[in-house]
Amino acid sequence: MRMYDVIKKKRDGGVLSSEEIRAFVEGYTDGSIPDYQAAALCMAIYFRGMNDEETTELTLAVRDSGEKLDVSGIKGLRVDKHSTGGVGDKTSLVVAPIVASLGLTVAKMSGRGLGHTGGTVDKLEAIPGFCTDLAVSEFERIVNETGIAIVGQSATLAPADKKLYALRDVTATVDSMPLIASSIMGKKLAADDDCIVLDVKTGSGSFMKSVEDSRTLAKLMVAIGKRAGKRISALITDMDRPLGYAVGNSLEVVEAIETLQGKGPEDLLELSLALAAQILFLADKGTLEECRAMAQDAITSGKALDTFARMVAAQGGNADFIYHPENFAKAPYTREVKVTESGYIASVDTEKYGLASLLLGAGRNTKEDEIDLSAGYLLKKKTGDAVKAGDTLAVLYASREDLFDAAERTLLNATTITADAPEKRPLIFETI
Ligand code: URA
Repeated sequence: MRMYDVIKKKRDGGVLSSEEIRAFVEGYTDGSIPDYQAAALCMAIYFRGMNDEETTELTLAVRDSGEKLDVSGIKGLRVDKHSTGGVGDKTSLVVAPIVASLGLTVAKMSGRGLGHTGGTVDKLEAIPGFCTDLAVSEFERIVNETGIAIVGQSATLAPADKKLYALRDVTATVDSMPLIASSIMGKKLAADDDCIVLDVKTGSGSFMKSVEDSRTLAKLMVAIGKRAGKRISALITDMDRPLGYAVGNSLEVVEAIETLQGKGPEDLLELSLALAAQILFLADKGTLEECRAMAQDAITSGKALDTFARMVAAQGGNADFIYHPENFAKAPYTREVKVTESGYIASVDTEKYGLASLLLGAGRNTKEDEIDLSAGYLLKKKTGDAVKAGDTLAVLYASREDLFDAAERTLLNATTITADAPEKRPLIFETI
């Protein structure tokens, strides 16, 4: 089979057979299919889409592209949460320690930044010494000792996704329903968790901009998970504005720690509790209300923070930073961005907000780019807030002053101020 013919078939709107899908995934994983042909096929899929059978086959091919995690050595009920990606979305850093502190096992494989969105692995690497690249045996050992470990996409588990993810990030092929579904579910099935909760984002900062598209994606992923015998559900949640106030890797870790200390922003706390409760519920820990109360107690008692610190230490990180987040290195330069009008922040283009963080150095433009873990910004005002001309919208952090102008322009252009207060959008739209 020639890759050229597979690309042409999809480009012209054809339905790929399971042999064609498997040959693509296997060939790209073993290096016999080059980046340029894989990128061309991703772009064809982006424009032409895939039916549910093709998407399921692609998911299973991604799952089968490497080893499946041998869970026989891992104790306890294995649970996971995965987001479709957003701006300021650091919930994994809050939810995973909460549920692990309540006796569930989190053996989590996370991603790096993708497009305008941040990634859990990049955030964790902002903790000095923290290692996200563990051998499977080491991963299993840490999970068994601490109940939790979070690693990057490995060369052995779902390696096809590791390569495709990095390729999509730099070829404008991220926001495609079949590519997102197969990427997320391929990884989740390879990790072979018992319970999976998906956080499917919706709004201007999400890869799915409308609630309808987010619902379709959520249903597709839940159906794939159920067919594979998983306990799985999805929350559709708001990404029409950043989550919390911090955007950028180390700034977000600090905000996640503050949330685990019970001092975090309301939206981040609310969503983290809802996701944790949903996981505990799937794991038969009680009613949803009971599970939410347990999650809240894990924060109030400090159990979740201690669990996070134990995981950090086990993965080689300096756990002192978890109890003293003020010690995280700050970027050398800051700039305050001020609004020029008075009124209310009616809406923000959250994708552009994500790009502003990339412009400060927090994301990649090519697969090989190093990111600046201290770059990003802290918002001072968000959608719905009243502002006066001259108020600070955000404080930018960067390692080079010449990066500020473009980021400042991007943030201001992405912010709409009107005379009247906007209607409030829900944080959680529905559960699938
Ligand atoms: N998260 C993933 O793991 N993959 C995607 O494609 C999007 C978000």
